[in-house]
Amino acid sequence: MGSRSRSSVAIWTVLLAWVGMTIIGGEMTKGEGANKSASGGLFWSTAKEEGDLARKAEVEDSTEVFNQKDDFDGGFSSLDGMLQWSIGHSDPAKLKETAENVQRLSPDKLKKRQMEIKELVERLKMPSDAQLMQIAIDDLNNSSLPSEYHHRALQELLILVEQIDNANDLHKLGGLSVIIRELNNPDPEIRTTSAWILGEACQNNPVVQKQVLELGGLAKLMKMVKSSFLEEARKALYAVSALIRNNLDGQELFYAETGDLMLQDILSNSSIDIRIRRKSVSLVADLVECRLQTRNIAEQPFFSNRFFLRSVVDLTASTDLDLQEKALVAIKNLLQLKTTEALVFKDFCGLDGALHRMRQQLQQLMAEEYLRDYALDVESLRREVELIFHGKLEKVTQVPT
Ligand SMILES: *[C@@H]1O[C@H](CO)[C@@H](O)[C@H](O)[C@H]1NC(C)=O
Ligand SMILES: *[C@@H]1O[C@H](CO)[C@@H](O)[C@H](O)[C@H]1NC(C)=O
Ligand SMILES: *[C@@H]1O[C@H](CO)[C@@H](O)[C@H](O)[C@H]1NC(C)=O
Ligand SMILES: *[C@@H]1O[C@H](CO)[C@@H](O)[C@H](O)[C@H]1NC(C)=O
Repeated sequence: MGSRSRSSVAIWTVLLAWVGMTIIGGEMTKGEGANKSASGGLFWSTAKEEGDLARKAEVEDSTEVFNQKDDFDGGFSSLDGMLQWSIGHSDPAKLKETAENVQRLSPDKLKKRQMEIKELVERLKMPSDAQLMQIAIDDLNNSSLPSEYHHRALQELLILVEQIDNANDLHKLGGLSVIIRELNNPDPEIRTTSAWILGEACQNNPVVQKQVLELGGLAKLMKMVKSSFLEEARKALYAVSALIRNNLDGQELFYAETGDLMLQDILSNSSIDIRIRRKSVSLVADLVECRLQTRNIAEQPFFSNRFFLRSVVDLTASTDLDLQEKALVAIKNLLQLKTTEALVFKDFCGLDGALHRMRQQLQQLMAEEYLRDYALDVESLRREVELIFHGKLEKVTQVPT
């Protein structure tokens, strides 16, 4: 949403200036109150001709015109109003809403204006998002341009790919391979934004996920997760998660690239940035969830590895509440895997003790007014984990009667 306005503000400004010019010039409205439109405040015209300027001054001077509020025929009362209205021109619901806001503007007149704006847009040949993306991609791909062009091109692409249609066009325009190539750029900022764009484009988008996987983006992004530039590591992990979430092919590739060890290293090392650790444990929860929902899927031995399980359980002792909560979600999912063993959770990971400590801590938090709701939520999740855990334990420790 923000993307469109930001990428097109310059164009709208040109468009609006042009509309103003033609209204004041009297060539646009063809008898339908050109003067009154001007009374609405279109004085920011870029009209260059002397005659236009003179006429403009005349209108500005005429107090009578300003007092004609009752005759207001839908001329734009402000730049903003016009911008809003113009943008809304293709959406009937928004059109209606705007129509209600504009005093005495009949739908017929609105429709007429709508057609006029549409005509203007076509005459101005406003570039489409695809064209804007092409320009950005060409700039990014042109090594003879100074680096600020590359930075700007990446910022524009970052905004444009928020929209799924644009993300889907990226590969067709040659953008994905150029962006993946930029993951090797010596400038960490370029690498960071490139990873970010890939993450945005892949987010809940199986088409783009597949394309990035086929272009070999995953292995590169996984290496970047280890970067000593914090922001690069964060954005790379964000992109890795977006790339393999709900994507079994991506997940196979992730394990083949020893993604399991990557996660284990992050989860077991408390010196690593907290946001990276939170994101990693959420990724574990997602990966397990995906296994739980997929039938006939090959087992992933990593998830029943006792050292891995212990590093997840240990996160519940973190001082970071968010990390604790995310760890609980991961534990809840891991407990539901057939391949994990209840006794490993109990004896090797000390899950009983961990849940008990959490409970005490949460009870203390509940005493704090501003933390009460949060603590209640986490406690209910903790309780759920406890029930699943004990259910799983009972199955293996029941004494036959
Ligand atoms: C606009 O103003 C001009 C001169 O002031 C006048 O001749 C013309 O009739 C006006 N047009 C409309 C539509 O009011
Ligand atoms: C790259 O940019 C330079 C400088 O603006 C320009 O002259 C050249 O045509 C561009 N190359 C391509 C392939 O667009
Ligand atoms: C990038 O530039 C190279 C040559 O400099 C060209 O072969 C390639 O097609 C370009 N890629 C895109 C997507 O424009
Ligand atoms: C833990 O992470 C820190 C910071 O990234 C790193 O310097 C250290 O080598 C890591 N420790 C282990 C045991 O991997």
